Amino acid sequence: MSDPREKLAQKRVDALQGGGPKRVEAQHAKGKLTARERIDLLLDEGSFQEIGNMVVHRSHDFGMEKQRLLGDGVVTGYGKIHGRLVYVFSQDFTVFGGSLSETHAEKICKIMDLALENGAPVIGLNDSGGARIQEGVVSLGGYADIFYRNTRSSGVVPQISAILGPCAGGAVYSPALTDFIFMVEKTSYMFVTGPNVVKTVTNEDVSAEDLGGASVHGSKSGVAHFTVPNEVVCLTQIRDLMQYVPQNCEEKTPLFSYQRQSEVREKLKNIIPENPNQPYDIKEVIEEIVDADSFMEVHKDFAENIVVGFGRLAGRSIGIVANQPSHLAGVLDVHSSQKGARFVRFCDAFNIPLLVLEDVPGFLPGTDQEWNAIITNGAKLLYAFSEATVPRITVITRKAYGGAYDVMNSKHIGADMNFAWPTAEIAVMGAKGAAEIIFKKEIDSAEDRDLAWKEKEKEYSDIFANPYRAAERGFVDEVIYPEETREKLIRAFEMLQNKVANNPRKKHGNMPL
Ligand code: HXC
Repeated sequence: MSDPREKLAQKRVDALQGGGPKRVEAQHAKGKLTARERIDLLLDEGSFQEIGNMVVHRSHDFGMEKQRLLGDGVVTGYGKIHGRLVYVFSQDFTVFGGSLSETHAEKICKIMDLALENGAPVIGLNDSGGARIQEGVVSLGGYADIFYRNTRSSGVVPQISAILGPCAGGAVYSPALTDFIFMVEKTSYMFVTGPNVVKTVTNEDVSAEDLGGASVHGSKSGVAHFTVPNEVVCLTQIRDLMQYVPQNCEEKTPLFSYQRQSEVREKLKNIIPENPNQPYDIKEVIEEIVDADSFMEVHKDFAENIVVGFGRLAGRSIGIVANQPSHLAGVLDVHSSQKGARFVRFCDAFNIPLLVLEDVPGFLPGTDQEWNAIITNGAKLLYAFSEATVPRITVITRKAYGGAYDVMNSKHIGADMNFAWPTAEIAVMGAKGAAEIIFKKEIDSAEDRDLAWKEKEKEYSDIFANPYRAAERGFVDEVIYPEETREKLIRAFEMLQNKVANNPRKKHGNMPL
């Protein structure tokens, strides 16, 4: 009998081989890293502890019993990111195309169960040809076992997915159930049915990239929250993201040390153009408000009329939701409402206070919007804010018109502090449109119609194109100079840091989905 220690040593070596050097070479030739190389880049050096490295599949069909590779196409375990525990699975495309067998699924489920019980994030590195075709329904069951756990873990521990190769068929639904999806340009794709099926069913000719590549999902569908040029950037950004989020829903976010200094931001003084219809870039405002270099944008290329992302204020994580006047005038539409709502839900689930920067002319009119259910989708944003119990602060920089005023974290739906800049205009609608409706008779009967309209527009504007009516009512807590904003926010979020608020007891609400 061979030396037991030698046997273990040999098995350990075998388990590291994946599909062998040729397939590893092919993986590299595609510009992709191996499952283990990815884990090394993701985790703190030397922190990875593997679980189940000797698991093999149980299939006996199609000669599979002759091909048993240790690990069965997925590397699973735990390690640390910036010193904090995370669980990770990394599919190995060099072993049966990273396809998901019964045992492959069991390995993933095992770490998901551990993550849920121990309250730490799960990071999935996906690179797979989908269900292991030789295993049939057993592998479909394996997927469903994962989907079930994704759902049960949702809102308990953060779940992050990186798509680093193919992800097709029902396999896309595990990442879709997680909190954030990263996609690598040119080497990853996600679709429910691939180009061949599309051609057969709809007669469309489309490449995998155009159907479900990173840029499509980053800009058109919004399925991907982050698109990155290569895998190294992808894994680095996942590490960055983890610095804004807590380990689980019971914990607070990591606190960075911060030395108080002059928090006055002179640049904000003149950031709002004199002409209220002229755009400006809300990201410049965000950069001035948050700690230096701390803004991490989510969904950068999708629904650009709203900006969402994480930042830090005096060392504390916050989530930012901001209308973007430089894109479609910052109007709310179907996609921006969905984008905002999803982000608010994540922040609220994981105790990340919310800052809302508001400059919104209203909801986008038109058949396209109505037929695509702007009513239901706008309601998502309204619902998400109304239900959020984390500290919530709004700053109205300029326009806050119509229903959008209510939706964008108004006092009435539970915001804790509402600030407005002197340039704020808080009204049912813009002065021009308002004058036309409420002074229609006077305008129509005037000798000089245009002049009468202008005068009435000014009258309406004098009354409502400012923050003071709202401040008189207490809907705005304080009108502040723009340059004071950062200081005011630091104080207010500090004041709110121990906020306790609960929604009425219920099984769960019925969010307008
Ligand atoms: C078993 C698979 C596999 C699979 C790939 N392989 N996919 N083995 N089950 N699903 C194997 C190949 O046989 C090959 O083995 C190796 O992985 C690499 O695959 P290649 O085809 O050589 O690689 P590439 O050219 O890069 O193409 C990758 C691919 C293609 C586009 C993913 O392999 C492919 O189309 N695979 C099938 C995808 C699919 O239809 N999956 C089922 C989807 S339905 P050798 O030994 O030659 O190296 C699904 C349902 C989930 O997943 C439902 C959940 C509810």
